[in-house]
Amino acid sequence: MEKTSILILGAGELGMPVILNLAKKTKDYSSVMVTVLLREATIHSEDTDKKKNITEIREAGVELLAGDLSAPSSELIAIFKNYDAIVSCTGYGSGAGGFQLKLANAVLDAGVKRYFPWQFGVDFEVIGRGSAQDLFDEQLDVRELLRSQTLTKWVIISTGMFTSYLFEPFFGVLDMEKKAINAIGGWDTAVTVTTPEDIGKLTAEIFFAEPPIENEIVYIGGDTITYEQLADIAEELSGQKYERTLSDMTEITNDLKNDPTNFVKKYRSIFGAGRGVSWPMETTFNLKNGITTTSAKQWARDNIDWKSMNK
Ligand SMILES: NC(=O)c1ccc[n+]([C@@H]2O[C@H](COP(=O)([O-])OP(=O)(O)OC[C@H]3O[C@@H](n4cnc5c(N)ncnc54)[C@H](OP(=O)(O)O)[C@@H]3O)[C@@H](O)[C@H]2O)c1
Repeated sequence: MEKTSILILGAGELGMPVILNLAKKTKDYSSVMVTVLLREATIHSEDTDKKKNITEIREAGVELLAGDLSAPSSELIAIFKNYDAIVSCTGYGSGAGGFQLKLANAVLDAGVKRYFPWQFGVDFEVIGRGSAQDLFDEQLDVRELLRSQTLTKWVIISTGMFTSYLFEPFFGVLDMEKKAINAIGGWDTAVTVTTPEDIGKLTAEIFFAEPPIENEIVYIGGDTITYEQLADIAEELSGQKYERTLSDMTEITNDLKNDPTNFVKKYRSIFGAGRGVSWPMETTFNLKNGITTTSAKQWARDNIDWKSMNK
């Protein structure tokens, strides 16, 4: 591989596994350099988690570059010009209002050869414009912008939801203390989920795939399951019967109408509708390439203390 310098933007929940897996993979390529851009204050933060991340990044042989992505575009372009590839792991961090579009424009104006935008989520195109989650429209704007040019090759990685969310109280599906499950949309509504660790591992594989992946949306997934299958998993692992209730789309739509700015209710509306939030495992990059990933059941077995839930 010719000399390549990669800049990763951000080092959060998704960014850390992406950084560590790309760094591990670059050990096979002496000509590849990985740098992570973070705010100066974050690099020198006293926060325990951030300090731990900075240490891990340094130990992986990755360079740190101080920078603030909320700076004017001209400053971003001056930084981005020094890199061949940019992988964005910023999250919605700086919120709506054009942040993702500003990054994409700066990448194109800097003439970066390859861009992985922050689109590690659902299939925004199938969901379409004007959905409950208004942030998705900007993700579609970014796709349009990338498709409108040929200088910068782009790769979008569709991951579905983080696997852990299925089991977290905020999502409002599983209540492990009350032994209850509330399906959203329908019992056969499916969702694709992937762990951040698998996203990191697969992003590194996709980055270095031969022949190179260019101008493509790559689907990955740790699992695609229905709420009925999720209920079965909870019952099997806990050894307890779960009370099963269903919130249909009428209920979910009314909930959102009564609380229209609620972030979780927006997500429940998207996932309940069941469009663009799942894809068959056979279509995933990981399955096609024989790369093992963590299923929802395996994640739940490894990360939840089911015995203590039964006390
Ligand atoms: N498919 C999914 O379900 C999915 C996918 C991705 C993320 N998420 C969720 O969405 C949330 C975000 O996760 P994430 O990993 O994408 O983001 P995150 O954990 O919020 O990390 C964002 C990273 O970008 C950096 N950053 C943000 N704004 C910046 C700026 N202006 N200049 C420089 N650096 C900046 C942050 O640095 P600082 O430390 O300085 O803020 C941080 O390192 C999490 O709650 C995650 O669980 C879900």
